Amino acid sequence: MFEQVLAEVEEQCRAERVPMLGPNKAKLLASCVEKAKPSLIVECGTAIGYSGLWILRVLKNLGTGRLITVEIEKANAERARANFERAGVADLVDSRIGDAAEVLKTIQDPVDFLFLDNNKDGYYACFRAIESQLTNPATIVADNVGRADQMAEYLEHVRTNYDSETHWFESRRRPGRSENRRRPGHRDGMEVSIYRR
Ligand SMILES: C[S@@+](CC[C@H](N)C(=O)[O-])C[C@H]1O[C@@H](n2cnc3c(N)ncnc32)[C@H](O)[C@@H]1O
Repeated sequence: MFEQVLAEVEEQCRAERVPMLGPNKAKLLASCVEKAKPSLIVECGTAIGYSGLWILRVLKNLGTGRLITVEIEKANAERARANFERAGVADLVDSRIGDAAEVLKTIQDPVDFLFLDNNKDGYYACFRAIESQLTNPATIVADNVGRADQMAEYLEHVRTNYDSETHWFESRRRPGRSENRRRPGHRDGMEVSIYRR
């Protein structure tokens, strides 16, 4: 059932143009989770749960860890919750509705994995909001770093202070442009950073 739900969610995202990570980036995210074996992952930007399902599949296979995922659009969060239920992984996830930069301030547990995929100009605020709860070390993955101008403060901070690597992916989508402005050969990236105090 899990694989069927994941395939359906991917198809719905494509059909309805709901933003999602897509399989290539999701494989990198899943490999980071596998490597880190985190106790608590925080995701900013749930959408309808595509990337969450990739994370939850790894946690289920590891037999340890849980996910808090935050989404500002109530309708998205409700669809994600239903997808997590149908996929049989709802017990591993706490889906919260609100502005991630505010919700993250309320998390009291140690966080050893942060995934940033919300509004791009909110990455640095999210990082600051959860920093006091980050373990030493902690893994931070940020999507869409091809849009560097929208997250300049965040990227400068992680690239200056931590081990940080950009993984580039070929993307047909021009950042910030609609489907009909796509062009071949554009690159987008994910930044994987190892936070240390
Ligand atoms: C790129 S999509 C997330 C895709 C998702 N991670 C996936 O791969 O399936 C970005 C999501 O962030 C949400 N979002 C935007 N601003 C936000 C904020 N301030 N706090 C939380 N979520 C936000 C949007 O509503 C949207 O659903």
